[in-house]
Amino acid sequence: MEEGNLISSAIEARKNAYAPYSHFMVGAALLGESGKVYQGCNIENASYGATNCAERTAVFRAVSEGERRFKAIAIIGGMRDKKPNYAFPCGICRQVLREFCEPEQMWVIVARSETDFKKMKLSELLPESFGPDFAR
Ligand code: THU
Repeated sequence: MEEGNLISSAIEARKNAYAPYSHFMVGAALLGESGKVYQGCNIENASYGATNCAERTAVFRAVSEGERRFKAIAIIGGMRDKKPNYAFPCGICRQVLREFCEPEQMWVIVARSETDFKKMKLSELLPESFGPDFAR
């Protein structure tokens, strides 16, 4: 997996972020087991609670297109007019990612740029997680 390429895709996705309320713009690029990349951005709403995060936009897009297993996600976020800082996925997005991957094998890449990033496993961000096997 080429981290830089996945981050570039997240940077591109971030351009479509719809964040007129928080001005916090987030882009995500999700790598499927098929090799396809699914982009997502955050989509806010005048009724703030209806907002969708970039990571979940990417997951929902991928699953709706038939892909259900993922290898990695790159995320880049920050205030509209500032340099991005590391933007870690929120708790809800961590749980949504958990549904469609093996936490020990899923890479989460949190980036400031194509070359400045932190890379960790989903199992580090969401230890002792509750997954599909418990509920089926
Ligand atoms: N946001 C994301 O897109 N991903 C996260 O993991 C955290 C937060 C968005 C939601 C909202 O539009 C803005 O960032 C501020 O919370």
